[in-house]
Amino acid sequence: APQAIIAPSILSADFADLGAECARTMERGADWLHVDIMDGHFVPNLTFGPPVVAKIRRHVDKPTESYGRGTFDCHMMIAEPKKWVKEFKKAGCDLYCFHYEAAINSTAAESPEAKSDEKTSPRELIRFIHEQGMLAGIAIKPATKVDVLYDIIEAEDPAERPDMVLVMTVEPGFGGQKFMASELPKVEELRKRYPELNIEVDGGLGPSTIDQAADAGANVIVAGSAVFGAPDPAAVISLLREAVEK
Ligand code: DX5
Ligand code: ZN
Repeated sequence: APQAIIAPSILSADFADLGAECARTMERGADWLHVDIMDGHFVPNLTFGPPVVAKIRRHVDKPTESYGRGTFDCHMMIAEPKKWVKEFKKAGCDLYCFHYEAAINSTAAESPEAKSDEKTSPRELIRFIHEQGMLAGIAIKPATKVDVLYDIIEAEDPAERPDMVLVMTVEPGFGGQKFMASELPKVEELRKRYPELNIEVDGGLGPSTIDQAADAGANVIVAGSAVFGAPDPAAVISLLREAVEK
């Protein structure tokens, strides 16, 4: 399997002190920062947009190589993923991870303002993200079957293949929810088919759930409340890493 990547979710950080929180999290041993973008439409919650990302970007050194330390892993929980690609590139996003459900427009279909995205297939969107100079990720919610991803991962043109797949282990929208072990068979199936794929898990991960996720084959680990709520966040980050590497 590819290398372990620990990506603390700054959704659980102190938003009044976000720049310093990001810098501290890197000093505590994080590989990436997981940046949750919510639009109050694709998910029932709001976080922040490009101006905030651009500001906090200055507190963390840009990665010197693809997938390197300091990668901003932007988890786009938004109804119109195509519309924001260029803005987030400008703001300093390195990996733009959109939701499959938003790209195919199943959730956004009822909304008139989402019409502009109707014809964007996941593969076209991945190509577009690559053209803008970012890595591309594709995320699935618990209700979405993993098999929808196979054709996309196996796209003939490498420019249309995702660099990472995100299997949500909670319903997206909020930090601090209970881990859904029911989603792990998706990770197992993906790992069996694609030994080299970056597989990210997000939601409810921490010391008590990491072993199951690591055994299933996840190598990119998001953790919000488990890191930021711990008395010793650095210890949690290294515990997560050891669980994936063992
Ligand atoms: C939830 C977000 C997660 C969230 C995870 O919609 O995508 O990244 O921050 O938080 P924890 O680790 O607390 O479940
Ligand atoms: Zn997330």
